[in-house]
Amino acid sequence: MTQHSSAPQADGAVGPRVRAARPDAAPSARSGASGWWRDAVIYQVYPRSFADGDGDGMGDLPGVRQRLPHLAALGVDAVWLSPFYASPQADAGYDVADYRAIDPMFGTLHDADALIRDAHALGLRVIIDIVPNHSSDRHEWFTRALAGDPAARERYHFRAGRGERGELPPNDWESVFGGPAWSRVPDEPGLWYLHLFAPEQPDFDWEHPAVRDEFRSVLRFWLDLGVDGFRVDVAHGLVKAAGLPDMGSGEQLRLLGTAELPFFDQDGVHEIYRSWRQVLDEYPGERIGVAEAWAPSAERTALYVRADELHQAFNFHYLGTDWDAPALREVIDASLTSLGAVGAPATWVLSNHDVVRHRTRLGGGAPRARAASLLMLALPGSAYVYQGEELGLPEVTELPDEARQDPSFFRDNGQDGLRDGCRVPLPWAEERTADGGTSFGFGGGSSWLPQPPEWGALSVAAQTGDPDSTLELYRTALRLRRERPELGDGEPLEWLTAPEGVLAFRRGAFVCAANTGPEPAALDFRTGALLLASGPLPAAESGRTVLPGDTTAWWAER
Ligand code: NOJ
Repeated sequence: MTQHSSAPQADGAVGPRVRAARPDAAPSARSGASGWWRDAVIYQVYPRSFADGDGDGMGDLPGVRQRLPHLAALGVDAVWLSPFYASPQADAGYDVADYRAIDPMFGTLHDADALIRDAHALGLRVIIDIVPNHSSDRHEWFTRALAGDPAARERYHFRAGRGERGELPPNDWESVFGGPAWSRVPDEPGLWYLHLFAPEQPDFDWEHPAVRDEFRSVLRFWLDLGVDGFRVDVAHGLVKAAGLPDMGSGEQLRLLGTAELPFFDQDGVHEIYRSWRQVLDEYPGERIGVAEAWAPSAERTALYVRADELHQAFNFHYLGTDWDAPALREVIDASLTSLGAVGAPATWVLSNHDVVRHRTRLGGGAPRARAASLLMLALPGSAYVYQGEELGLPEVTELPDEARQDPSFFRDNGQDGLRDGCRVPLPWAEERTADGGTSFGFGGGSSWLPQPPEWGALSVAAQTGDPDSTLELYRTALRLRRERPELGDGEPLEWLTAPEGVLAFRRGAFVCAANTGPEPAALDFRTGALLLASGPLPAAESGRTVLPGDTTAWWAER
């Protein structure tokens, strides 16, 4: 028996019980889909790097559409697409020039419509990114503003500089990508505009009613096209403290997500999400909003998911936690308590397009990454899977500088400057393309970021059917999540007393234990029949289950 093949046999009582209704295709069929998002597994597609339909080396919507069956077979409930809007790509599409158009490099509106329809037909919901904190500097409003139109200027933050001739920025805020958060307006000495990210991403002034109206209209545009929700980029940034006061500290980047800042997590943002919730609720089928909110605590994060605001918020406190049992237990408890207090489901995430892939970040290679994934998928609530983590992809650390595109790489002291390494295109096939390109079935001859030569062995084709592969581990785990009523939003979590370094809990008849330490640990509690394990388990010792280091296992009492 392989390490993770015992699930169906061991659990004879499990039938095809499915807790939450799946979308059943067309939007009209979604009206009875009560609480689908409370335990959904949501797969992040980074369109540049998922699949390339036209062979130009850059991923696109037709490519995503062709590969949807992979996601259906994987067993996820929904797909979240990072931005595909018309954009000069100064920040890989998080600089939007037109919120109602698709960038030609990704396809057309027709492609987006077809993708949404195909996904629904496969039982997958579709969540898209919305970027409301800033536009591109090529957005029509900003080009008008730069040209001097006073009405357009009011929709952004234009301010006179300090110093005798306005030669100094209006305040001391720093860009998340490094350097000052202000740039000078060309040809207008002394005038500056605010950009918390790249200079090509001017921040909107959300006090202006036109900005609020425009975004409600953009939401409706995409909801009318059938999307099931929005991932809200920089959800914590829209409102700035009145008067744009100085920070008075040169350590702003270090404080992101851990302290109160005059440009992040201001109370005023919540009124915006209450108005967005009203728009979402105009549509049938529970369309959702997911906050990318870097707030200083689990309690502050929970404010974004109160009953009349958004539905979910990413759990960055969990993502930022080391592979360490006490630390994990603390963040899990804090998350469940604070989110439970507002009636929202917890979410769990280990990787995304902004952080070092967890296989590399957690420091223990494939075994630890697999153990971390299995722990995450056993926790109560909803989980996010970043494309390629189901293949166990590591971070690519050896990219040539000339291939890099992350704007933070090009600015001094930016937010680590290393985001390209998690954005390398996925390997689908074992072989390179015939023309000697490097795409491993991604699409074109050469992908926009080069894939390491060893990625053929990690491809979807290479892993499919291999019971020891990470891909099959995810497939089995996601199938069990659907089948077992205790998982997802099912039974509450009860901690079990476990040896040092082991995190163990029960959810009804289901038991999960994760050994974060290096040595095998003998477990004192009754585990039941093995459902799935992230690595090989040795024989029990004196009737006690032994869990090797960097291993997570799932059992069930019946
Ligand atoms: C968060 C996104 O995930 C990231 O990729 C982007 O650079 C910033 N927001 C700015 O939009």
